[in-house]
Amino acid sequence: MTASSADAPGDLPLSGKRVVLGVTGGIAAYKSILVCRQLVDLGVHVIPILTDAALNMVGSTTFTALASERPKTSLWTDPDPIPHTTMGQTCDAIVVVPATARIISDYRTGRSGDLLSATLIATEAPVIVCPAMHTEMWNQASVQDNINTLQSRGTIIVPPEEGRLAGGDLGAGRLADPDTVVAAVVDALGGTGAVGGGDLAGRSVVVSAGGTREAIDPVRFIGNRSTGKQGYALAAEAKRRGASVTLVTTVDRPAAAGIERIDVTTAADMEAAMHTAAASADIVVMTAAVADFRPADVATDKIKKADGIPSIELVPTNDILAGLGAKKPAGQLLVGFAAETTNVVESAKGKLERKNADFIVANDVSAPGVGFAHDTNAVTIVGPQGLTKAVPLGTKEEIATAVFDLVVDSLPPS
Ligand code: CTP
Repeated sequence: MTASSADAPGDLPLSGKRVVLGVTGGIAAYKSILVCRQLVDLGVHVIPILTDAALNMVGSTTFTALASERPKTSLWTDPDPIPHTTMGQTCDAIVVVPATARIISDYRTGRSGDLLSATLIATEAPVIVCPAMHTEMWNQASVQDNINTLQSRGTIIVPPEEGRLAGGDLGAGRLADPDTVVAAVVDALGGTGAVGGGDLAGRSVVVSAGGTREAIDPVRFIGNRSTGKQGYALAAEAKRRGASVTLVTTVDRPAAAGIERIDVTTAADMEAAMHTAAASADIVVMTAAVADFRPADVATDKIKKADGIPSIELVPTNDILAGLGAKKPAGQLLVGFAAETTNVVESAKGKLERKNADFIVANDVSAPGVGFAHDTNAVTIVGPQGLTKAVPLGTKEEIATAVFDLVVDSLPPS
């Protein structure tokens, strides 16, 4: 028995939509079952395609019970002689979850090696690719090249997260949360991107991420250790809650599906991009680690050792958060971060007032597992009317959820 969408009530949000769910042979294949279930619950007619390798990870019986049709596993065993073109032409979207390096490569090069790759090549519908693999594989230049090419052709990439991988390793490559995958599919089908509406539906959120780089000469710069992880997690969380999201970033990494990404390098670039994006935003979050100083002059040629030890004059950059605070439109909520090593709460309260922010998310960067480059964070959020809330050590995604839980409560009605 299958959970046919013909049985589903017609008033579900995505009734009538047909989605091919491609499952490939990664350990994360078990999470595709949750994606299947959530899509069916939204009214989607889900057609699973399982590769041979996927069948080593999950059983077809599970999909037979949960999806809208029996899973398809081969080009040659279907009653339809051309199942790939039939599915490719009649579906509203294809989501590949998890997507291994193999299927990403086949799709990029147009290689029709099995039913799933043939169907991907045979469709004009939106394709959502959700990679999952070990960090070394994900960071491999060939894989990144394939991802960037697919993205430039319009494929929606739901980037993997940082976290625990098969075999107990930690790093980038863990499949995105099933909620995030479903939100990307909903978005591709013309929905809000948030499952069940979302408490930021209809709102616009701007987030900055990463560390700025201030050039000394054509090859050197002043930078910092920020990796942008917390900013990316905040942008993804705002998207998951239904907001339209702009991410102003110094980090060369794809953002979650449906997020507008603006690439910047210096504090001055970021300042200009933030002021433009923030003018009409409901919530602005300055997560970026902005350089406080930059070289007064940038050498046009590389500074040579033979010329002796250079002396580099530094001048202050503008404080972007304070500038946004000074120009804050009525009703906008401005959120800043603070990296502290002493007097965390007092210093954060001082920054809240000085920069006219509504919330400051303070982290004690001297504590273990907290701040730059870690996958985890622990923060104290200070806010209006003396609000102080400690959020214990958790993933950066959990911190992002805690931040928006508080901020959303202070939003004026739209
Ligand atoms: N910030 C900014 N522009 C700068 C420096 C910081 O917008 N030129 C923002 C950061 O994005 C963060 C907040 O200000 O949201 C606090 O940054 P932090 O480095 O903790 O504080 P500073 O104001 O730089 O003060 P200090 O380094 O002296 O603690």
